[in-house]
Amino acid sequence: MENIDYPMQTLAEPFRIKMVEPIRMTSLEYREKALKEAGYNPFLLSSEDGFIDLLTDSGTGAMSQAQWAGMMLADEGYAGAKSWIKLEKVVKELTSMPFVLPTHQGRAAERILYGILGGRDKVFLSNTHFDTTRANIEYSGATALDLMPDEIMENDKFLPFKGNIDLIKLENSINQIGNNNIAAIVLTVTNNSSGGQPVSMSNAKAVRKICDQNNILMVIDGCRIAENAYFIKHRESGFENYSYKEIAQEMLALGDAFIMSAKKDGLVNMGGLLCIKDESLSKKCMNQLIISEGFITYGGLSGRDMEAMAVGLEEVFDESYLHYRIRSTAYLGEKLHTKGVPVIWPIGGHAVYVDAHRLFPGIPVDQYPGQVLVCELYRIGGIRCVEVGSVMFGKYDDHGRLIPAAQELVRLAIPRRVYTQSHIDYVLEVFDHIMKNTSINTGYKIIDESPFLRHFTAKFQKIDNNGNT
Ligand code: F0G
Repeated sequence: MENIDYPMQTLAEPFRIKMVEPIRMTSLEYREKALKEAGYNPFLLSSEDGFIDLLTDSGTGAMSQAQWAGMMLADEGYAGAKSWIKLEKVVKELTSMPFVLPTHQGRAAERILYGILGGRDKVFLSNTHFDTTRANIEYSGATALDLMPDEIMENDKFLPFKGNIDLIKLENSINQIGNNNIAAIVLTVTNNSSGGQPVSMSNAKAVRKICDQNNILMVIDGCRIAENAYFIKHRESGFENYSYKEIAQEMLALGDAFIMSAKKDGLVNMGGLLCIKDESLSKKCMNQLIISEGFITYGGLSGRDMEAMAVGLEEVFDESYLHYRIRSTAYLGEKLHTKGVPVIWPIGGHAVYVDAHRLFPGIPVDQYPGQVLVCELYRIGGIRCVEVGSVMFGKYDDHGRLIPAAQELVRLAIPRRVYTQSHIDYVLEVFDHIMKNTSINTGYKIIDESPFLRHFTAKFQKIDNNGNT
């Protein structure tokens, strides 16, 4: 492959803009009112009311001219559409898995696979289960255990592959639980819930070996597999001369199954994949697919969705694109770090994670410091982002007391090919204002929540300095 060099410091986007979507700034008063009406939960805000939307990198990217052109040529045939045949070919080449099932998004693939593998008494082991992964596993009656190395909790420490699963914890868990009760090992690549950090090839290979020794299924949740490949090429010795795609192919070939929310590195606004090596497991999954998503050659997708995904899965490995993608996320994170904002270090692939507990040390964990930062970013600058802390992962003990999450983080996720460097400079300026008032010492109380994935719909009330709402 060609090795492009980047002689200038300025990160110029490797595209020019052909179509524009206006965004509007609102007044402080307007945003305060909107926030209150949304129960202080940005998921409940209208997207129009935000200026910069960093809520997620999922399905929020801009498609290329080649993707839009492909959509015009798409085949909407119910069975065996040519857009499906094209997508299946691209996916088989990438994954080397013989059975490809299209789904409407990642969690549909999760529900199908984990519904079949899960059930009471079953345990799933992972570096970190993403929230929908955990929810689908727990909904089946099974248990989901996250096995991260302790050192990843040291947010300032540079480790090249902080997304890895802890191999010692993994072997100990298998010994304790017994391999017959383990439904699968799920390697989340990159590791979204723990900072968007990459997983090394050697870690993935070690997991494969452990799976072989213990006869356990290995699932790769690889919605950010191209971003992970970037880190392997630049951080893991032996891969310097591989292309990004070759690295992804090598990693995916290790798995028995591959789940992908194509809304990330598939560069589409909607779509997912479930790929499987074993024929009998694939048949069970196909039955579920037909019942709940659609026929096996479209799943939950239209022909144009599949066409766009086929193109996106090739474009995502483009060298200029991936360089820009990873460097633009790092640009935000590194600049925040220089300003003294506590961020998870090093910066991951798709998002910057701010440690809200360290930013606002006076706010008790059960008043959700992450939610305070999320609301302040919206209030001051119209920026929308998500709490990844005790709102998302907190549980209650038998006395109704909060069992907090391991960390109180806020994620600034960067949509693909959407914002320019000046938008990011704007975000940095909003943080200058946040940094002027880090002595806030009260937060929020949850007044309404659902039993699964409560962060999406929970409503909050502000707590004042006397502890009242
Ligand atoms: N696995 C991982 C690692 C994810 O990050 C996501 C989605 C999913 C599975 C589920 O895919 O949304 O297509 O159903 N992550 C989004 C996010 C929602 O904001 O990080 P989905």
